[in-house]
Amino acid sequence: MSKVTVVGAGNVGATCANVLAFNEVADEVVMLDVKEGVSEGKALDMIQTATLLGFDSKIVGCTNDYAQTSNSDVVVITSGIPRKPGMTREELIGVNAGIVKSVAENILKFSPNAILVIVSNPMDPMTYLTLKTTGLAKNKVIGMGGALDSSRFKCYLSKALNANPNEIEGMVIGGHGDTTMIPLTRFANYKGRSVSDLLSDETLAKVVSDTMVGGATLTGLLGTSAWYAPGAAAAYLVESIIHDQKKIISCCVYLEGEYGQNDICIGVPTLIGKNGVEEIIDYKLNDNEKALFEKSATAVRATNNILKEINVL
Ligand code: 2OP
Repeated sequence: MSKVTVVGAGNVGATCANVLAFNEVADEVVMLDVKEGVSEGKALDMIQTATLLGFDSKIVGCTNDYAQTSNSDVVVITSGIPRKPGMTREELIGVNAGIVKSVAENILKFSPNAILVIVSNPMDPMTYLTLKTTGLAKNKVIGMGGALDSSRFKCYLSKALNANPNEIEGMVIGGHGDTTMIPLTRFANYKGRSVSDLLSDETLAKVVSDTMVGGATLTGLLGTSAWYAPGAAAAYLVESIIHDQKKIISCCVYLEGEYGQNDICIGVPTLIGKNGVEEIIDYKLNDNEKALFEKSATAVRATNNILKEINVL
């Protein structure tokens, strides 16, 4: 019997819950939100798709009733406000830090063994905050940014190559920020053929920049943050945990020496299974990639420092 809770039933949280239920990733999916009736309503709406879509997962919605989340195996935290056009993810830290901290505390009262998947922005500092304030083991706190950014990278590569995105491999590491993410073009390939042999330097540079501002582009179009891909990326990560798929996914995790970094949560390739982070995979970066990673880590660390300035850490 597997149980997943999604905290925050906004666009991203509800999409994640919907994907989890539709794909029968968990036997039970609970949505919890602070707004009276929202989770209950969205849950009922989703339940009414069960006979149309043919799934059996149980879906529960509740308002701030953490008892309903008891004994969850995995909890996805999407709480907080999304960014508006023109805003960076980092600007959300003042509002979202307190929310994420208190959600994690409440969740662990009822699900002390849960693995936490962090979606709230700014995602890297929120993952670090959760790890530090809960005292959970480092394998149990995972930020989902890299999974989303890698999916966007593959999307833009597939458009440039006019190819099926599912035939493309691509990984984005570093921070989940417009200037901190690092699409690893050297490792990206289309059925084993390196994309740098298939695309001009100019086209590849455009793919990289489109990927980096992937979220901002959608915020501009939608007037708020994206939700289909962010929700699906979180569900993809949850599935690898619940079904012990041992997929290699770029995730925001705590580093202790890996990739030359310490005391930071940032995106690196990880093996994700039933224990959460089971291994951090060393991609053997070249000097240029190492320099980009160092720069990204410096920026993420600067945002982490704000957590201390605003007294949440
Ligand atoms: C995004 O990149 C919401 O951070 C998320 O769309």
